[in-house]
Amino acid sequence: MNELIILDNVTAGYDNGIVLRDVSITVSDQDFIGVIGPNGGGKTTLIKLILGLIKPVSGTIQRFDNQEGSFIGYLPQQSQIDRKFPITVQDIVLSGLMSAGKGLSRYSSKDKKQAFDLLDQMGISHLAKRTAGELSGGQLQRVFICRALISSPKLLILDEPNTFVDNRFEHEMYELLQQFNKKMAIMIISHDVGTISYFVKTIACVNTYLHYHLSNIITEEQLAGYNCPLQIITHGDVPHTVLQKHDHSHDHDHDHIHLTDHKHE
Ligand SMILES: Nc1ncnc2c1ncn2[C@@H]1O[C@H](COP(=O)(O)OP(=O)(O)O)[C@@H](O)[C@H]1O
Ligand SMILES: [Mg+2]
Repeated sequence: MNELIILDNVTAGYDNGIVLRDVSITVSDQDFIGVIGPNGGGKTTLIKLILGLIKPVSGTIQRFDNQEGSFIGYLPQQSQIDRKFPITVQDIVLSGLMSAGKGLSRYSSKDKKQAFDLLDQMGISHLAKRTAGELSGGQLQRVFICRALISSPKLLILDEPNTFVDNRFEHEMYELLQQFNKKMAIMIISHDVGTISYFVKTIACVNTYLHYHLSNIITEEQLAGYNCPLQIITHGDVPHTVLQKHDHSHDHDHDHIHLTDHKHE
């Protein structure tokens, strides 16, 4: 396992106040981390920190980017695009190379083939020449996943990708992500605790503080603390929960286990 990102005791926020406190988490190359927590808990802020879009007030963030290829592929929350803007699906996907530093210049035929292959994997290659305005929310979300993937990132971050998608694609998407996880680390933010816990390897609960759980088991206390019983009922057939008490004596170990391994190297 190689570390990609290490956050050590990070506190961060905006002009109007602190949003995240003493957050420590290590993201390594084979990770598949589900990030859960209430609205306004700081999940998107955590992602902005990892992306370097905002700076911590205190604490440190290390990125182990060896410069080969792109480092992070990112699907923003509620991807907004002017649907009247006449950009094609193919060009939306290719624009993922731009954010990876490829510039506005021409895309090679190899790039275009890769865009097509990704769309094909998502089952929407027939839409390549359509414009964004002609797509459904779920189709557009697939396009944005392709956009996040085209630069072959080492870490794929998806901020609530299931917002616009139908249930069937949601399951398909998680299965695809498990395939992608063989080649890259994944962080996925979701409100859907029940489904997410079934697919991810570990879970980070973010609500000002971050509790990192080195398994995909959701504890009774988390369910109560994160107000998720409705989602649990909705997805009652998914074998996702092993209810167990959250043992606070282990908090410290869990939150820092990666860091203590590497702190003194
Ligand atoms: N750009 C911003 N400026 C000021 N406050 C912000 C900004 N973005 C988010 N916040 C505030 O930070 C808190 C956490 O937001 P966010 O990280 O988006 O939470 P989540 O993604 O978990 O819903 C919220 O109270 C939100 O209002
Ligand atoms: Mg958010």
